[in-house]
Amino acid sequence: MFQNWTYLAVLLVGLCCWTSAVIGAKDDPITDPIEVKALQEIKKSLIDVNKNLSSWNRGDPCTSNWTGVLCFNTTKEDGYQHVRELQLLNLNLSGELSPELGRLSYLEILDFMWNNISGAIPKEIGNIKSLVLLLLNGNQLTGSLPEELGYLPNLDRIQIDQNHISGPLPKSFANLNKTKHFHMNNNSISGQIPPELSRLPMLVHFLLDNNNLKGYLPPEFSRLPSLLILQLDNNNFEGTTIPASYSNMSKLLKLSLRNCSLQGQIPDLSRIPKLGYLDLSSNQLNGTIPPGKLSSNITSINLSNNRLTGTIPANYSDFPKLQRLLIANNSLNGSVSSTLWQSRTLNANETLTLDFENNNLSNISGSSDLPANVTLWLRGNPLCSNTNLVNLCGSKSDIESNMQRSAYNPLECRPQSCPSSYEYSRTSPVSCFCAAPLLVGYRLKSPGFSYFHQYKTTFEDYITSGLNLHPYQLDIESFMWIKGPRLSMYLKFFPVYEVNNKTSHVFNDSEVRRIRAMFTGWDIPDSDLFGPYELLNFTLLEPYQHVFPSSPKSGISRGVLVGVILGGIAVAVTLSAIVSLFIVRFYMRDYHPISKRRHCEYLKSWEYLCFSRDSSS
Ligand SMILES: *[C@@H]1O[C@H](CO)[C@@H](O)[C@H](O)[C@H]1NC(C)=O
Ligand SMILES: *[C@@H]1O[C@H](CO)[C@@H](O)[C@H](O)[C@H]1NC(C)=O
Ligand SMILES: *[C@@H]1O[C@H](CO)[C@@H](O)[C@H](O)[C@H]1NC(C)=O
Ligand SMILES: *[C@@H]1O[C@H](CO)[C@@H](O)[C@H](O)[C@H]1NC(C)=O
Ligand SMILES: *[C@@H]1O[C@H](CO)[C@@H](O)[C@H](O)[C@H]1NC(C)=O
Ligand SMILES: *[C@@H]1O[C@H](CO)[C@@H](O)[C@H](O)[C@H]1NC(C)=O
Ligand SMILES: *[C@@H]1O[C@H](CO)[C@@H](O)[C@H](O)[C@H]1NC(C)=O
Ligand SMILES: *[C@@H]1O[C@H](CO)[C@@H](O)[C@H](O)[C@H]1NC(C)=O
Ligand SMILES: *[C@@H]1O[C@H](CO)[C@@H](O)[C@H](O)[C@H]1NC(C)=O
Ligand SMILES: *[C@@H]1O[C@H](CO)[C@@H](O)[C@H](O)[C@H]1NC(C)=O
Ligand SMILES: *[C@@H]1O[C@H](CO)[C@@H](O)[C@H](O)[C@H]1NC(C)=O
Ligand SMILES: *[C@@H]1O[C@H](CO)[C@@H](O)[C@H](O)[C@H]1NC(C)=O
Repeated sequence: MFQNWTYLAVLLVGLCCWTSAVIGAKDDPITDPIEVKALQEIKKSLIDVNKNLSSWNRGDPCTSNWTGVLCFNTTKEDGYQHVRELQLLNLNLSGELSPELGRLSYLEILDFMWNNISGAIPKEIGNIKSLVLLLLNGNQLTGSLPEELGYLPNLDRIQIDQNHISGPLPKSFANLNKTKHFHMNNNSISGQIPPELSRLPMLVHFLLDNNNLKGYLPPEFSRLPSLLILQLDNNNFEGTTIPASYSNMSKLLKLSLRNCSLQGQIPDLSRIPKLGYLDLSSNQLNGTIPPGKLSSNITSINLSNNRLTGTIPANYSDFPKLQRLLIANNSLNGSVSSTLWQSRTLNANETLTLDFENNNLSNISGSSDLPANVTLWLRGNPLCSNTNLVNLCGSKSDIESNMQRSAYNPLECRPQSCPSSYEYSRTSPVSCFCAAPLLVGYRLKSPGFSYFHQYKTTFEDYITSGLNLHPYQLDIESFMWIKGPRLSMYLKFFPVYEVNNKTSHVFNDSEVRRIRAMFTGWDIPDSDLFGPYELLNFTLLEPYQHVFPSSPKSGISRGVLVGVILGGIAVAVTLSAIVSLFIVRFYMRDYHPISKRRHCEYLKSWEYLCFSRDSSS
């Protein structure tokens, strides 16, 4: 009997060790517990109406596919896995951002774009020294910008546009030595632009249009060594002038200062060699239009709604890329030279719009016959009393209409052989190529042109070469000019039609991941012409949904399943052990008892080992 008992105990211990060894071996390297805890807190402070984050209840963040949590491939020196990206765009999340975000200390991309999150930006984000992209645009965030964000040594991009952020732009942001992109438009940021920001060595895009900035335009900004776009429309720099130093901004591509209450004269911007877009409209600028010749790259000049006097400079007729010259609602006088439209030969995709309404222009010198694709508006000028010109004095109409392609199903292809969420590609070199596209909502935030038609092919080449795809893989489903002006598009990407002589109808998983990461990581290089882009959405239809699972999923993961099975075995073994022990005790009633506590301990350690492991997952 005693031997039986010993045998049983040994068996129990053995089983126990074996089971725990099996469970232990099953464990992948795990996520830093500090980060796991932080993620749980982050989720707690969010409201997730669609339950897209329901996966955040099970398993380990890095090994159990938590929605939007992307980790490093390898463990760090501390032996743990760490979160590298939090990609939670477009999930209709509300609630607030938890200060615990600051504990994700290896994070590189923080992406909460296009949700409905309110509350303030936690200052603790300033602790994430590794942060490269801070993407909080398109929410309901309030409060002011934490000074702490100025101490992020690796930050490349801060996008907080389209929120309700108020308060000043912190001076500390002058320390953002690596930051290239300041996208803070459409908020309520107030106060003066700190001149200290002119130290920023890498600043490329400074977009703060539609805020409450006041004070003045810092003349020091002319020293920014890399600045390409300065866009500050709809702020109030009441009674101040455009600094003369801005004529020295040698890299500038776009200057947009519409409706900023600016006064005084327009500086001579003819020394800016690549200036492509100039909008100084709706200010109180006076004096004459500087006679210096602007860059031959200029596509758009908007000086309307000011108090400009004098004549239209003669050299404005000689811009090879000009699409729009708007000088309506000023006090310009003299004659309009027909060389403005006769010196250009436009191809079928080009458009030239000249809006000279409501000035004091007295006549047209030369022919008033307009070539195809040139539009001239002259209403409200003395020259309209000339009956030969009444056709040019009518009311305006819009030029570039938005494009929306209709559903595509060519006659020769059978609709029933292309299942839903697949479609026939209209750009593929083979006909009736039925494939599942990736859908991307995309927006040019500050384009360097006014009309898209002539640049459509250039754009297709730019985006597909940036993504390392064939041009035919992209189909621009629609585009639409919206306020800003920004150009919103819906893009469809189709797989290559043949890989190793085999027709493929879908992208493989790694290609989907690669393309998505290019968009969400801002890895497509910016273009001088197209400017910065925004990602509005990245939609994965049926054949791709498993690549980034984010819908509530029924069923349980394999890790949990293994745990459940082993737990079941453990319970069964324990139960039979207890029953056996009772039997043993029954037979050993009259025997000299051996350490009752011992087998209790065995039982306890068994329970501890086996059950605590289970309940911990
Ligand atoms: C995570 O997703 C990948 C790819 O979809 C899948 O192969 C893997 O089994 C998933 N892991 C877990 C633990 O769910
Ligand atoms: C993961 O490892 C592969 C090589 O195994 C490497 O090419 C890739 O860049 C790594 N990805 C990350 C996110 O570190
Ligand atoms: C987003 O959430 C709101 C409630 O917070 C709900 O009314 C709305 O329908 C949701 N939108 C989507 C697209 O799920
Ligand atoms: C945004 O969140 C607020 C409050 O959390 C809610 O009332 C509103 O319906 C949400 N709107 C959308 C579009 O989800
Ligand atoms: C940024 O660069 C300046 C000038 O090189 C330097 O003085 C400053 O310490 C740097 N700031 C940070 C946060 O690295
Ligand atoms: C004009 O722009 C093009 C690209 O659109 C560029 O290649 C060219 O160098 C620019 N020209 C000048 C004079 O800057
Ligand atoms: C332009 O406006 C400024 C400020 O309102 C004024 O001082 C100046 O005399 C004006 N100049 C001209 C040429 O009208
Ligand atoms: C005009 O645009 C179409 C399609 O966008 C393109 O195929 C064509 O080559 C363009 N023509 C010229 C002259 O640029
Ligand atoms: C330019 O004019 C031609 C001929 O009238 C026309 O076919 C074409 O659509 C016009 N292009 C644009 C961009 O309006
Ligand atoms: C994505 O964005 C595009 C462009 O704004 C829009 O047309 C489309 O409806 C959006 N798709 C989804 C699923 O939100
Ligand atoms: C594809 O097919 C062509 C002719 O049918 C053949 O010459 C070529 O070697 C094939 N390529 C591959 C990668 O199998
Ligand atoms: C989030 O969950 C909703 C509801 O299940 C689903 O329709 C949506 O596709 C999910 N969002 C994403 C980005 O997958």
